[in-house]
Amino acid sequence: MENSGHSHGVFLKNSNAMDIVLQPAPALTYRTIGGILDFYIFLGPTPDLVIQQYTEVIGRPFMPPYWSLGFHLCKYGYGTADATFSIVEKMRELAIPQDVQWNDIDSMDKFKDFTIDLDNFALLPDMIDNIHRNGQHYVIMLDPAISSSQPKFTYAPFDDGMAMDVFIKNATDQLLIGKVWPGNTAFPDFTNPVTHEWWAKQISKFHKLIKFDGIWNDMNEPSNFVFGSIDGCPGNNTYENPPYLPSVEGGALASNSICVSAKQNWSVHYNVHNLYGYSETMATHNALIQVRSKRPFVLSRSTFPGSGQHTAHWTGDITSTWDQMYHTIPAMLNFNMFGIPLVGADICGFGGNTTEPLCQRWQQLGAFYPFARNHASIASMPQDPTVFSKAMQDSTRKVLLTRYRLLPYLYTLFHRANRHGSTVARPVFFEYPSDVMTYALDTQFMWGEALMITPVLNENATSVTAYFPQDIWYDYYTGSVVKSGLQKLDAPMDTINLHVRGGYIIPMQYPETTTTESRKNKFLLLAALSLTGEAHGMLFWDDGDSLDTFQNKEYEAMKFTASNNTIVSEIENDGYPGASTMMLGQAFVYGVKSKPNQVIANGVIVQYRYDVINKCLNISGMALPMNASFNIAWSP
Ligand code: GLC
Repeated sequence: MENSGHSHGVFLKNSNAMDIVLQPAPALTYRTIGGILDFYIFLGPTPDLVIQQYTEVIGRPFMPPYWSLGFHLCKYGYGTADATFSIVEKMRELAIPQDVQWNDIDSMDKFKDFTIDLDNFALLPDMIDNIHRNGQHYVIMLDPAISSSQPKFTYAPFDDGMAMDVFIKNATDQLLIGKVWPGNTAFPDFTNPVTHEWWAKQISKFHKLIKFDGIWNDMNEPSNFVFGSIDGCPGNNTYENPPYLPSVEGGALASNSICVSAKQNWSVHYNVHNLYGYSETMATHNALIQVRSKRPFVLSRSTFPGSGQHTAHWTGDITSTWDQMYHTIPAMLNFNMFGIPLVGADICGFGGNTTEPLCQRWQQLGAFYPFARNHASIASMPQDPTVFSKAMQDSTRKVLLTRYRLLPYLYTLFHRANRHGSTVARPVFFEYPSDVMTYALDTQFMWGEALMITPVLNENATSVTAYFPQDIWYDYYTGSVVKSGLQKLDAPMDTINLHVRGGYIIPMQYPETTTTESRKNKFLLLAALSLTGEAHGMLFWDDGDSLDTFQNKEYEAMKFTASNNTIVSEIENDGYPGASTMMLGQAFVYGVKSKPNQVIANGVIVQYRYDVINKCLNISGMALPMNASFNIAWSP
């Protein structure tokens, strides 16, 4: 941010180890130890334009499948397919929304990729069938490191990989062997196109057994439990001992990873270490397209500028503490600025034991992570919503249903990220760059231009102080107006504060416990009027799962405008094959100064209620086809 309220961005496109030092003067110092000095300066002048310009260079974020915007559940150490499935069933019984179930490495035979532990997970295929029949989805884990110590001809991923020569070699051309979950492992070189073929072949074979819908790429820094390799790294080597060492974890380039003198197709590992996860997710994304012919979903721990084209991201192994929960907000906002908007942290924390109040508040915050997954370590107590009190379950159901109701708005933001590179979850200053009070705000954030989210981040708190920039703001739930400036808000245990900015229209849909079911329901609009009685918004909609719907024009795009006591829609593209089923059932208008005499939708008188205290109009009982323009007018 410049003093003028304008902003710019600086990007050094370089994959080597580097320090970036923020100087006291308005200056940055880069110290990179290799590569090419490709510098970009993005002139904005608004923060969102800086990100649009940046993602034009690094690549725009992929369009996520609609189901991946639902709620995900995972844990390392469910132990059996039965135990996993009983949670899915319990979630259904309790009617708490869940779209996706995951398993971690414990479903594998001795942690080997592309295997199933037949003693405990033989029923996995049945469970997945059931999940699919219920309109839900399933995600597996694939770590990059491949077990190298199985008897010959017993483990095809390694044997095939050897035959196709896909594994990384050390400086003296022997296979580089490290240690990861399954013991001794070789590391695929995903910068080699042959490796992509080999990876797609393994994924395709495994998919015949296990009908997974998405893939989780973990440990892809690449992470290694020994230094460099089981034989260490060459001592007297300029790559391993560069004349200048940036401040890297462990004090050596190879610590917790592989030797940087190792050889890859693109270059020596020294130059491409930071592209390991990037190249892996590229291969995984493309393999999923080949295998499923649908929009792929990949989740990656390691990323690089441009990773957003191929993958979502989670923030890794955080602990279950109030302080770490707070830190997930800046992390989520950063990754939106990095062009990876489908990001979230492990809801309720990964390491250690959560507590019910922490998990309750975290489920509320996490319902507004663009990627919403509850995940925990093997040593942690179970922390899915079903294990807590009825009050906690009720509040989690309530906040997830709110998320599901808002998904058409979230999906439209993802479309705009995909087309233009805008952020999805964004810092408040992105919308108010001339208000310096917003610059350091990291306890609140926005979805797009219109929705302010203010979670509770402190134990025992039942109120929260929020900053509202100069504007008109409405309570999302009631439509009551909140004044600008610092405001103390009530925040009972079962509620997260949400506010809608005047001047915007948010598209919504009646929620169900899966997106498959929600998508069959009628839509709603929430029009939050500006002081001059105006508002605008848009909706992007398609089948949520097919590839290239935008390129093939198989989508609906429409604009909504409110002015002069009327909301009208305007169709920009009418190509979604299911468009005739899209109906508008209800509209809320916030900021209507007096009770209307009547409301007319497409020429017909419709029911409405007017809340005199909060000055809100609730127009219901409609069924307006959304693939044609409609008109809703209230007489003043
Ligand atoms: C890593 C991942 C974590 C996962 C664990 C076991 O620690 O970050 O999410 O549960 O490995 O696979």
